[in-house]
Amino acid sequence: MRVVDIIQRKRDGQELTDHQIAALLDKYLKGSVPDYQVAAFLMAVYFRGMTDAELKTFTEKMMHSGDIIKFEGVKKFLVDKHSTGGVGDKVTIALAPLLAAFDIGTAKLSGKGLGHTGGTIDKLESIPGFVFPETREELVSQVNQTGVGIMGYSENIVPLDKRLYSLRDVTATVSSIPLIASSIMSKKLAVYADGIMLDVKVGAGAFMKTIEEARELAETMLGIGKNFDRKMVVHLTNMDQPLGCAVGNALEVIEAIETLKGKGPKEFTDLILHLTGTALYIKGNAKSIEEGAEMASHMIRTGEPLDKMKQFIKANGGDERIVNDYSLLPTASDQVDVIAKKAGFVRKIEAEEIGKAAMILGAGRATKESELDYAVGLVLNKKVGDEVRVGEVLATLYYNAADNLEDSIKKVEKAYDFSSEKVESQSVVLDTIKGF
Ligand code: URA
Repeated sequence: MRVVDIIQRKRDGQELTDHQIAALLDKYLKGSVPDYQVAAFLMAVYFRGMTDAELKTFTEKMMHSGDIIKFEGVKKFLVDKHSTGGVGDKVTIALAPLLAAFDIGTAKLSGKGLGHTGGTIDKLESIPGFVFPETREELVSQVNQTGVGIMGYSENIVPLDKRLYSLRDVTATVSSIPLIASSIMSKKLAVYADGIMLDVKVGAGAFMKTIEEARELAETMLGIGKNFDRKMVVHLTNMDQPLGCAVGNALEVIEAIETLKGKGPKEFTDLILHLTGTALYIKGNAKSIEEGAEMASHMIRTGEPLDKMKQFIKANGGDERIVNDYSLLPTASDQVDVIAKKAGFVRKIEAEEIGKAAMILGAGRATKESELDYAVGLVLNKKVGDEVRVGEVLATLYYNAADNLEDSIKKVEKAYDFSSEKVESQSVVLDTIKGF
């Protein structure tokens, strides 16, 4: 069948066969189908959606367009956590050592940050001496030894997704639920884990603006996961503010460690406990997520997750003394408080604006080539639900160069939205949908 006929079938709402989907994607990968035809196909999918059978084949083809990583030799139960992206998201850094304390392994490929969101790789690289493993064998040995192995993302994981995503970006088709679901799931399935936890952010700054859309995405991804025999749980989480208080590489490492000491921000701690509870439930060690979260809370009090954190840092050549002495981390030379000019109750904190405020101080990359300053960033002092009086500190900025300081302060001020009425702070986990 000609490519134009495949596009026409999709446009007219007819189901495509496995063979037709495979032919289109194979030809595109080989370069014998031009971008404009695939762009038309993506638009047809945007309007017509995909059936379960189409989505399974489409995801499978995406997944097999590059390397499949199985982590042979890992002796632990592996759970992977993936989030659709957030500001202040230091979840992996706190979660992995906590899971390790329960003998649940993390073997993960993580990304560098770009734009207003930071990457786990950059955050951990702020630890003096920290160098990520370069080979899969090294990573497997670290997981077996410490329970945690993280390395940089390989360019060859689902290369088809990179090409399709670039096309979606310029054809207004990013927000198609089947396209998002297959994009995320193909990458999750290409890197093996026994259990998968997905965190779908909901809110104005997220891909999914409403809880209904987020639920549809969750169900679609769970449907794909079932076809591939993976145990999955999807969390829908609130993105009406950044996660936790710290935004910036070393500052986020400190907040993750504080959380493992039982002194983290409440909403971030709640999320970490919920995720650990979910992993214990997936593994079969807890009868419910709530029971697992209780076990996690108790585990933090034993101090064992902190030891796991130290082992993980040491295994990567990092200075594990940072866990007890934050002055060994890169530290900014100056700091300034952003003072509230308005009174009220915090209704919302625009995460993107806060991410940009930290980025222009040097915490993030405006382009792929930008150099990072690991020390800089900001810490929010007021979160959603808090009452603010004029003159109180909204946030503290940590900086080395003052070039963009004024702009950064303005962005923080702009990010805060106040209500004159009392605001109930929402729980971070809005819904949990189990796929098994
Ligand atoms: N994250 C992805 O990996 N892909 C999408 O399409 C959207 C969010």
